[in-house]
Amino acid sequence: MMLYVISALVAAISLSTGFPTYKLPVTLPRIMLEDDSCVFPESYLVEHFNIWTPAAGNGNSTIINFQYTDTDTNIQTPCHFNVSSINVGVEGLAPRYACDNTIVEFIWQNNTLRMIEKTCPETSSGFEASGSIQPQVDCFQTPDDLLIGPGTDCFAVQDQINGTFSSLQPTPSLS
Ligand SMILES: *[C@@H]1O[C@H](CO)[C@@H](O)[C@H](O)[C@H]1NC(C)=O
Ligand SMILES: *[C@@H]1O[C@H](CO)[C@@H](O)[C@H](O)[C@H]1NC(C)=O
Ligand SMILES: *[C@@H]1O[C@H](CO)[C@@H](O)[C@H](O)[C@H]1NC(C)=O
Ligand SMILES: *[C@@H]1O[C@H](CO)[C@@H](O)[C@H](O)[C@H]1NC(C)=O
Repeated sequence: MMLYVISALVAAISLSTGFPTYKLPVTLPRIMLEDDSCVFPESYLVEHFNIWTPAAGNGNSTIINFQYTDTDTNIQTPCHFNVSSINVGVEGLAPRYACDNTIVEFIWQNNTLRMIEKTCPETSSGFEASGSIQPQVDCFQTPDDLLIGPGTDCFAVQDQINGTFSSLQPTPSLS
């Protein structure tokens, strides 16, 4: 066991690519560093980003759809926001929504998409990497004969947007 730990640490140190560019929190459980299968998320890809916003006076919900990929952690999932989305975050903080793969969550605020990915959820819980992108969009008015009423539909100019994780933090929790 001890030998395993030492060799894992040596491997982790020699394989400097195993460490992310952001600072790791001092409270990070040792097991996350020692578990070879624990990969720290470094970057991600957002594809086909699309947001529909209701026109003034239309009380229908905003709709967001995009595809999320993290090749380092081998996660690929669609993400949606719509009338049935549930805030999975802590009350009082920016609302966050889970993607179909709930390891991934996002916050849409201020034309900024913040992606959040739980870090090595199989090794240890309670930590998440996050990073933001600001998609540049092309928009057009949608006619009001759609089921959802009048609004504006916006598509990312870049169909693929590369994002970088800028921090790794404990997941905010109550208490
Ligand atoms: C609406 O959002 C929920 C939650 O993410 C998702 O499960 C569902 O597929 C979405 N509906 C549509 C039509 O995209
Ligand atoms: C939104 O962006 C504006 C301008 O960049 C900034 O002043 C403001 O603090 C931001 N608000 C939030 C909630 O991030
Ligand atoms: C949503 O859009 C439909 C179609 O235009 C409209 O009949 C309905 O009133 C809208 N819902 C709200 C809450 O405004
Ligand atoms: C995103 O990153 C990948 C891998 O580093 C690269 O191959 C690709 O060209 C980048 N895409 C864009 C749109 O910058």
